[in-house]
Amino acid sequence: MRILMLCSEYEGLIKTGGLADACRGLTKALVEAGHEVMVLVPRYASLYAFETRDWQSVYVSLGGRTFGCAVRQLTLDGVAIGLVEHHEFFQRIRPYDDGEYGYADNPLRFAFFCKAALAWCQERGFCPDIIHGHDWQTALAGVYLQHEQAQDDFFSGSRFVFTIHNGAYQEVVASDWAKQLELPASSSPVNLLQQGIVSASKINTVSSGYRDELLSEPAGNGLAWLYQQRQTDFSGILNGCDYQLWHPGRDVHLAAHYDWPDLTGKASCKTWLRQHHQLPDKAVPLYVAVSRITGQKGFDYLLPALAQWLPTTDSQVLIMGTGERHYTEALFALAARFKGQMSFVMGFDEAMAHKIEAAGDFFLMPSLFEPCGLNQIYSLRYGTLPLVRATGGLKDTVVPYPEADCTGIHFEQANAAALLQALQQTDAIYQDQALYQAMQQRAMAQCFSWQQACQQYELLYQAALQQY
Ligand code: ADP
Ligand code: GLC
Repeated sequence: MRILMLCSEYEGLIKTGGLADACRGLTKALVEAGHEVMVLVPRYASLYAFETRDWQSVYVSLGGRTFGCAVRQLTLDGVAIGLVEHHEFFQRIRPYDDGEYGYADNPLRFAFFCKAALAWCQERGFCPDIIHGHDWQTALAGVYLQHEQAQDDFFSGSRFVFTIHNGAYQEVVASDWAKQLELPASSSPVNLLQQGIVSASKINTVSSGYRDELLSEPAGNGLAWLYQQRQTDFSGILNGCDYQLWHPGRDVHLAAHYDWPDLTGKASCKTWLRQHHQLPDKAVPLYVAVSRITGQKGFDYLLPALAQWLPTTDSQVLIMGTGERHYTEALFALAARFKGQMSFVMGFDEAMAHKIEAAGDFFLMPSLFEPCGLNQIYSLRYGTLPLVRATGGLKDTVVPYPEADCTGIHFEQANAAALLQALQQTDAIYQDQALYQAMQQRAMAQCFSWQQACQQYELLYQAALQQY
């Protein structure tokens, strides 16, 4: 099949979270399966450092204005990528926000991206079977595809497939945006995610657990009625893991490598991390987390749970992330209060994320909701047992203690008391080294391959193509 992949982030180029990993992992698998895939990504400021070869100029008309832009090509692991260049819209350091607030012109920027994608296809004579959009940033591609199909035949065989990586980010803006975005006038606010859901032939999200959650409120964030309406076209496909990048036996970021059954390399990684983050090298468990620091990730109850638990345990905690200031300030305060037992690293550091995955004994992922979650999947492979809240993709990927084939720890209620209890239970698991190691062995043997996910996407694409 010929597939146009529209990505607002792509691992190896620009990343704010798992969306980037998922876009790259799926694309690689599709290319390996023999499909002709073209990826388009906005050319953000940092992407000017990448050398490009051939380019195409494209004219885009949007909301009564005409914009010129260039699409510059490069190749990343055998995948053809086009960088959509428009200085005014995309030459910014951060893709979606200034660090605190979303850019006011986000609807226009990403509407432009979608329109430019279609214009590029026509210019290049690249007629896709499938246009695959990811999240609200690419949702309007479905609407604009319908506009094009009403005008001429170029896209008559193309279908729009829309993947929701996070149903909480919808990009809802005032109704007076409709005209600029070429949407029908209405008195209600414009919801970009909703536009994608309505205009797609097939929609999916990134685990079947989260798919079921979206069908009701509050998880649906006001759109449960629409997911219900589209229920027969709505599936859950679990993300995979790129084991080329995330494998403790060959991870380029690690000082020492390891794999089951010899975990001496893991012990070296732990010593290294402790030395670099002011934690004494003692025979106590190390709990780690690498996370966007937002309400989604459970910080409202993680912070009080840690404050209660740390004085009662010898265990250590290391958290790395960036995000909302009220949480990062509270994390700094907690790390200062428990100096030598807890460290907080503020920053986004790809290499350090790998080092932390390798060094931990347990990975904390107490999310309030989690569409899929990749970190717990990476943690399993690195023998860093995930402690997760039983929600969405976390529930689908981590088998809870005390089940016979357990690979991690679950807790149910989104509150500090439930998490505190889980932390105490986890400490006890570590004390029983035979149990801990058996869990580690099972965790490391899990496989969440992109090949498997890719086969399900192929079926989804085929089903979309059969739909009119
Ligand atoms: P989400 O997409 O909701 O943030 P996922 O678990 O799916 O959650 O994916 C998060 C991805 O982003 C992982 O690859 C993780 O390593 C990475 N990540 C998150 N925060 C950081 C950070 N501060 N530094 C480096 N990588 C990070
Ligand atoms: C989103 C979700 C996360 C998921 C990722 C990739 O960022 O929050 O759960 O793993 O997308 O699909």
